[in-house]
Amino acid sequence: MKLLVIGSGGREHAIAWKLAQSAQVKRVYVAPGNGGTRTEGKGENLPVPGTIASQEAQEALFAFARQQGISLTLVGPETPLAAGMVDRFRAGGLAIIGPDKNAAQLEGSKVFAKSFMAKYGVRTAQSRSFTGYAQALDYAAEHFKRTLDPLVIKADGLAGGKGVIIAEQYAQANAALASFMQEGSLGTAGKTVVLETFLGGNEVSVLAAVSVVPGKPGTILPFIAARDHKRRFEGGQGPNTGGMGAIAPVPDFSAAAEADFRSAILEPTLRGMEQEGMDYRGFIFFGLMVQDTRCFLLEYNVRLGDPETQALAPLMDFDLAELCHAMLDGSLACFPLRWKAGAVCAPVAVAEGYPGAYRTGVPITLDRETFSQTGAVLFIAGAETQAAIPGLYTSGGRVLGVSAWGANPEEARNRAYQGMGAIRFEGMAYRTDIGRSPSHV
Ligand code: AMP
Ligand code: GLY
Repeated sequence: MKLLVIGSGGREHAIAWKLAQSAQVKRVYVAPGNGGTRTEGKGENLPVPGTIASQEAQEALFAFARQQGISLTLVGPETPLAAGMVDRFRAGGLAIIGPDKNAAQLEGSKVFAKSFMAKYGVRTAQSRSFTGYAQALDYAAEHFKRTLDPLVIKADGLAGGKGVIIAEQYAQANAALASFMQEGSLGTAGKTVVLETFLGGNEVSVLAAVSVVPGKPGTILPFIAARDHKRRFEGGQGPNTGGMGAIAPVPDFSAAAEADFRSAILEPTLRGMEQEGMDYRGFIFFGLMVQDTRCFLLEYNVRLGDPETQALAPLMDFDLAELCHAMLDGSLACFPLRWKAGAVCAPVAVAEGYPGAYRTGVPITLDRETFSQTGAVLFIAGAETQAAIPGLYTSGGRVLGVSAWGANPEEARNRAYQGMGAIRFEGMAYRTDIGRSPSHV
């Protein structure tokens, strides 16, 4: 079996690594991939023309999959999903994992997602959407007259992690609304906004496999919980990033909270997907805010999380390729989703300056002996090989992740940081507190 994974980050490396463990899998093409996916045993990178979400890329990948007899394609990031990659493959009779363009709006439009949640009673923060700057500003002014709570401002469209501002005061809300709605700082993505009440609590990511096709009862099978750490610095300080590290499972996500998640969020979501007649055979990611045992849905992502996947993949005690087939053939409800005991801690190393400007092309060294003693796996995000020169060079802001398993969270953390210690590159930086406190995000 030959598989194709679309994307180029640490998540795609972890997906390719896990898929390659299947005895049935002969080759895993990753488009465009990175220096890690290229050097994985069964891995091979495939160049992509234009950006990953372009029409040109869609046609090239479709043609490749057909010519090479690819059995299954898995889409990593959200932008090709929102652009209809899945629709293109399905229309041409090729098997692909991901929601179609319509269902992908659950991530691609906050207005779409919030009205879906309201219609089907999925528990979430109260919100209103606005297309006019003046009206949004009036609403913000009213909000700050009424309460001292922050106001959460969300751009409607995909904004690569830059679309949510938590405004503490009116002036900050005004600046964000002017930037999104008037100056067009996010392009069309910020022309419509959702204004939402602030929720305190601990964030938890629940990723899940989905198999919903029109006219049949569907299934959503949740994974064990994971947690991202989004802020750049220890203790949840500093700017938001694409994710500085993840853990799985989440010790403070209790059985009672999980039961609440199922009844207040998962089940109404499934009902909604069925009733809307969605075609959703892919992964979903519930971004939760948990207050004790009560869960609120902050957002849907229509894909696996990055870096949550790097923490979850080493705990998967099942064949990921088989899970994908079960999502496509309607047998997901009986799939034996098993997890290894213990925990994974997966800190991410970034380039100095990230998430601002940073250098690339910096050589990376690895002390293989020390690293292998930890039993950890190295998942590459922004690093490449260079022709005729051995080793890896940085090519992005988030450079790599170390995913270490331990019998308990503390052992996993110790091994992960021991593994990090075996890696060096100029300007290398990472958070030292991944998984240390529930409130650190
Ligand atoms: P989202 O893209 O909707 O998940 O928002 C990005 C981040 O903003 C989340 O991971 C939270 O840290 C924060 N956030 C979003 N919505 C809220 C809310 N209603 N209350 C508090 N924090 C929020
Ligand atoms: N870890 C957050 C995301 O994948 O969007």
